[in-house]
Amino acid sequence: MDKASAQTASEVAMDSALPATQTRKQTEGATTGRETLTITDNRNGKSYEIPIKNDAIRAADLRQIKVQANEFGMLSYDPAFNNTASCISKVTFIDGDAGILRYRGYPIEDLAEKSTYLETAYLLIHGELPTEAELKDWTYNVTHHTFIHESIKKFLDGFHYDAHPMGMMISTIAALSTYYHDAKDIFSPESRKKQTYRLIGKMPTIAAFSYRHSLGMPFVYPDNELSYPGNFLNMLFRTTETRYRPNPILERALEVLFILHADHEQNCSTNTIRGVGSSHVDPYSATAAAIAALYGPLHGGANEEVLRMLMQIGSIQKVPDFIKRVKAGEVKLMGFGHRVYKNYDPRARIIKRVAYEVFDLMGKNPLLEIALECERIALEDEYFVKRKLYPNVDFYTGLIYQSMGFPMTMFPVLFAIPRTSGWIAQWEEMLLDPEQKIARPRQIYMGYDMRHYLPMEQRQEKHGPDRTPGKHA
Ligand code: CMC
Repeated sequence: MDKASAQTASEVAMDSALPATQTRKQTEGATTGRETLTITDNRNGKSYEIPIKNDAIRAADLRQIKVQANEFGMLSYDPAFNNTASCISKVTFIDGDAGILRYRGYPIEDLAEKSTYLETAYLLIHGELPTEAELKDWTYNVTHHTFIHESIKKFLDGFHYDAHPMGMMISTIAALSTYYHDAKDIFSPESRKKQTYRLIGKMPTIAAFSYRHSLGMPFVYPDNELSYPGNFLNMLFRTTETRYRPNPILERALEVLFILHADHEQNCSTNTIRGVGSSHVDPYSATAAAIAALYGPLHGGANEEVLRMLMQIGSIQKVPDFIKRVKAGEVKLMGFGHRVYKNYDPRARIIKRVAYEVFDLMGKNPLLEIALECERIALEDEYFVKRKLYPNVDFYTGLIYQSMGFPMTMFPVLFAIPRTSGWIAQWEEMLLDPEQKIARPRQIYMGYDMRHYLPMEQRQEKHGPDRTPGKHA
């Protein structure tokens, strides 16, 4: 059958995957009614008609483009996935130009105002908001999986007192796979459900225990009577009280921050859990990999870096000089810019409001003035305007976390805890997608052609000092 007119099962899936409101407009401005792309290979003048679905072509359709029959065929080259969709997803929608973020169709602003983190996590994973009974059951199950095996405490004790808590999280979550052998049964819905309760339930416990370990303080066990963020605050900060009662403003602030961080479609760590999970490893190992990806300063580690940057700037008077250094390419304005948002990050707007609620209670963070001045200058400066660089989610979170009493090293951990629900939703979507296989990109090889093994005595004079691949014909 003609490739252009054939519609395979996967193309039908691609067609129907997006609800009508989110399908990119295909007809606007179209005049021919043909949903195809014609490519002419100027090497031999041959033309190919390739189907277009949702404003995308399938990279595999390029493979038919070849000059010699025995060639591999054309690839698309896209380092860092700047313009490549790796999956069809129904979890999270972002319109980066309009500054829109929705989980399963619900605007982030609505969820931040009306929902709780656990309800949002349910929505992300199950696709719908829970009924009262479903929410009760879900909350019960997550809450009753917050305890960790006693020997994990010994494992945590093995870390040095100044170990970064993200390093401890990566290792400890990976170690959970050695406790729960049933987790390998990834195609059993019952097993996935169980690991989901465990992962969402245990993340705050492991995070809090890592923090207490760094202080040399005894671990505080979970309190099932408290909310998810309330219990986290309890495990972090309880000292001699018989019953810890979180401050409701701080508890709600953390709840909102958890909702805002719960998912963000195909970012670096989500791509990681999908990629690692595609090998069919257990979800603890895949989540540990995602936490590792999140740790980096360009991703979830940025909140920690923003605070270090503000402290380094030191005063409002020094902001213009710092901005000059940013524009000269010497440093980055951390907490600014985003691969997808080319407008104000909608999460940053909500966070700015939460920041003031926390500052009203805890006193204004002295670094706030410096942050506001950076933002004021950046939003007017041509360098940032031209590149559409706006504050992202990490720009203000560090200031809030610091005012709430968290040390800087805990900031990325506060990102990882809520992102776990998004990771699980995306991991499960990947597993159940019949189109997905083990993630395995192609490469364009630019290294040496075949050459013969050289005996040691011939190596220096043959190669000279420059061993850069590609420099030797
Ligand atoms: N400060 C100064 N210049 C910047 C910044 C920044 N924060 N971000 C981007 N640019 C410049 C960049 O140098 C480039 O300029 P030019 O066109 O002259 O080469 C242009 O803007 C486009 O940037 P890019 O690096 O091609 O954009 P990207 O999509 O590859 O990177 C980013 C996105 C978030 C990694 C980047 O903006 C960045 O490094 N920001 C600082 C780190 C940060 O805040 N990360 C948190 C991201 S949001 C939380 C999350 O989801 O992880």
